[in-house]
Order: sequence, then C-alpha cells, then structure tokens
Amino acid sequence: MNSQSELDRINRVAWNSRDAARVFTVDKTFSDAGEEAAFDWLAPRCSGAPLLDIDIGTGRTIPLMLAMSNDYTGVDYTPKLLEMARSRYPGRDLRHMDARDMSELPSDHYGLAAFSWNGIDCVDYGDRVKILKEMYRVLRPGGYVFFSSHNRGGPGYRENIWQLLPHFTFNPLKLGWRTLRSMRRFRLGTLNYCATSS
Ligand SMILES: C[S@@+](CC[C@H](N)C(=O)[O-])C[C@H]1O[C@@H](n2cnc3c(N)ncnc32)[C@H](O)[C@@H]1O
Repeated sequence: MNSQSELDRINRVAWNSRDAARVFTVDKTFSDAGEEAAFDWLAPRCSGAPLLDIDIGTGRTIPLMLAMSNDYTGVDYTPKLLEMARSRYPGRDLRHMDARDMSELPSDHYGLAAFSWNGIDCVDYGDRVKILKEMYRVLRPGGYVFFSSHNRGGPGYRENIWQLLPHFTFNPLKLGWRTLRSMRRFRLGTLNYCATSS
C-alpha cells in the first residue's frame, strides 16, 4: 500500500459498491458469536446511557444499540450507506462523520463508543490509534470502548479450531502446500484462538 489516501480510495470503492449495500442489509442481527457475547456483557452496564455507534453502515447495529438505550448517535463516513440507514431509521440522530475526526462530538459524554464488524481495520495503524483516542475522548469516565478486529492467523471466537488443520485433497502438490501453510499459521492461530475464547 503506497499511502493512506490509496487505502481510502480502495475503501470508498468497496463501500459504494452494490455488494456492500447488499451484504449490510441482509437480515442479520449479530455479526458473529463474539459480538453477541460482547453485547450481552455491555447491555446491563450501558443501560440508558448515551451511546455512540461509529461505522453504522446501513444500520444493522441500530436496533441492537436501541435495546440498551434510546439516547443514541450513529455516524459513518459513506454517504450512500448512511442514507440507507436514515431511510430505515427515520428520526434517529445519524451523522456523516469520519471517525478519525469526531471533533463535532462532545468530550466526556458517552457511556459506550462502538466500532463494530471490523470496521476499524479499514484504516492503517496510525489512524487506528487516532480513532481509539477519539473514542476515549468522547467517553465519560467509566464508559466502554467496543470494537472488533480481524484475528490474523486464527479462527474467531467460538469458531472451529480444526480449521487450522490442512483440508485433505488427493492432489499431492496442493496437500503439501496446504500443510506448509497450516504449519506456518498453527502457532499464532492457536494462541489467538485461546486468547479470544477465554
Ligand atoms: C464492515 S462495515 C460495517 C457496517 C456496520 N457496522 C455493520 O456492522 O453492519 C464498515 C463500515 O465502516 C465505515 N467506516 C470505515 N472507516 C470509517 C471511518 N474512518 N469513519 C467512519 N466510518 C467508517 C464504512 O463506511 C462502512 O459502513
């Protein structure tokens, strides 16, 4: 990747594609078991608190957040997806905003700042730090930060650890390649699996 603007350009194409609109409007509640466990844990702790939902896309997380509190603000930087969210949830406070600069939002205010479904992986390391600092700034003391991120080399929370083993094939070249790839991923994958499953 040459620069951050190149990464932004790729993201813009991806988020404005028909596939993004289709995938993010499928009838889905939780993105995976890990997210469901996180929401279960957060619900009693954030009940009635002001909630900030970053990267709302077409609004999948809106009903999940509203089940915790009616004091809700959602933001996203892709106008097309944001418009879809607005038409699905009219009257809600849904703003066009880049998570790297949320200066429009008050400091020390929210009980929860969430960046769901690996959305934070769309930016590079420096911008992730910037976003996490912004999330921390807008939180009131004792507030919660929630985000998910891809688990490099390992299965996700409650996924099957056996997927780290090579898939069998009668083609010896493919089998050799898959075995080598599995051996390379096994140590990190197992460590990540243990870390996310505990
Ligand atoms: C994987 S989608 C997730 C959408 C939604 N959270 C969901 O779970 O259905 C990622 C979303 O992150 C948004 N996004 C990525 N980088 C962002 C940024 N820097 N600021 C605001 N939104 C961002 C994209 O526009 C896209 O809607």
